[in-house]
Amino acid sequence: METLVKKIDEKKQGNVLSLKNQKRGTKKLYIESYGCQMNFSDSEIVASILNKENYSTTKDISEADLVFVNTCSIREKAEQTVRKRLKVYNSIKKSVNPDMVVGVLGCMAERLKEKFLDEEKLVDLVVGPDAYRDLPNLIKEVEDGRKAVNVILSKEETYADIKPVRMSGNGVTAFVSITRGCDNMCTFCVVPYTRGRERSRNPLSILKECQELYNSGYREVTLLGQNVDSYLWYGGGPKIRFKRATKEQKENAVNFANLLRMVAKINNKLRIRFSTSNPQDMTEDVIDAMSENKNICNYIHLPVQSGSTRILELMNRGYNREEYINLIDRIKNKIPDCAISMDMITGFCTETENDHKQTIELMKYVKYDYGYMFKYSERPNTAAAKKFDDDVAEEIKQRRLVEIINLQQKQSLENNKLRIGKTFEVLIEGYSKRSKQHFYGRTTHNTVVVFKKENCKIGDYVNVKISDCTAGTLKGQIV
Ligand code: SAH
Ligand code: F3S
Repeated sequence: METLVKKIDEKKQGNVLSLKNQKRGTKKLYIESYGCQMNFSDSEIVASILNKENYSTTKDISEADLVFVNTCSIREKAEQTVRKRLKVYNSIKKSVNPDMVVGVLGCMAERLKEKFLDEEKLVDLVVGPDAYRDLPNLIKEVEDGRKAVNVILSKEETYADIKPVRMSGNGVTAFVSITRGCDNMCTFCVVPYTRGRERSRNPLSILKECQELYNSGYREVTLLGQNVDSYLWYGGGPKIRFKRATKEQKENAVNFANLLRMVAKINNKLRIRFSTSNPQDMTEDVIDAMSENKNICNYIHLPVQSGSTRILELMNRGYNREEYINLIDRIKNKIPDCAISMDMITGFCTETENDHKQTIELMKYVKYDYGYMFKYSERPNTAAAKKFDDDVAEEIKQRRLVEIINLQQKQSLENNKLRIGKTFEVLIEGYSKRSKQHFYGRTTHNTVVVFKKENCKIGDYVNVKISDCTAGTLKGQIV
């Protein structure tokens, strides 16, 4: 049975936490995360909260007292993945670990609430993204023989004071969350319902966390939020209440451009990235902050979702095709070699061949460096589910998806080819998957570079001259 467990663990698609900077607890927590970077970051907060309750993490589910799955609801497929994992947990519980307690965290917990307990008999705890501080109490309830649910969304919670226990990553790059929730209400998106109102984290706690990361050897932080450009600190509370803030609060408020400049000052050897930017909220000041500070990376993830103004309107994205193109032009004007990536959805309600053609034309114009592309997946209770028919046939969604993926692949390769012969500063993140003689790292553009390791070490900055490439990777030599 042990081999079965091992096999299952190797095959699973989520990421299991194994934590370095935690005190050894007598009880064992196994936690698997799916979905966005925020979920991975949240799992580190959960591990930190439970570390204080005498839990340390394990990679071996068969020895776990507590098994958590941090879930994603963004597309139906993400939810199906979690359901499959629960089946696997069920067989492990029956055959090897009958005492394990199983909890569901994250967006699916929030979306399905108590219903989860009816649908999945195995589950003991259902805990939404704003309720992790309540975990110690909820676990006690389960120990007393009851099932426990807390899915209350908060307007204040940012977990600002909780020091995440870092995932056993590379010790060089880390995620730091700066906002929670989203107020944008894109019609296709479930996030505003599962993660609640948008609120920003105290900048001093962000600076402290970034400084501590730098002191312990980290060289890159990615500031995380559903919509980072909308960051606004005025003393706490949801962003919508800023209108009612006092004059003093308004004068001292910190926006995203201010925050970027503050983090950039920690040390010029600390790289800064951020994700995700929403085109409607990105200000000129943010672009200026990027061009003024060399350690803010020349890379923006700028989801567009569609190239058609008609579809963007139905999606309630808050910008049209021309405004998006204008933003791209302004970015390229101030930061000529800025890399840009996108998210794109094919087959949104009523999408025609002409709308799809506009998406393709937009991609050809922007020449994205990278893209995350999806078929539209209707999510229950979203505005799109209520107002529009999911009327594009599956085969058409799929065909359009394949077309844009192929185009993106071609463009990524072309962009990378233009980098051959040039030299880039690379932050070394670890060993190449294929050889212990090679390191990999990333350029400011977020492009992966593989090169012979020479006398360098992980965490160093090196200059690498590019000699070859694929669509996804650059190859070169240290100069
Ligand atoms: N906050 C981010 C993205 C959140 S979700 C933003 O501002 O865009 C990540 C991506 O998933 C989205 O950008 C979108 O491309 C995709 N997505 C969200 N809901 C979806 C749905 N119902 N069907 C297909 N893709 C979806
Ligand atoms: Fe979703 Fe739009 Fe917010 S995609 S996370 S509602 S910016």
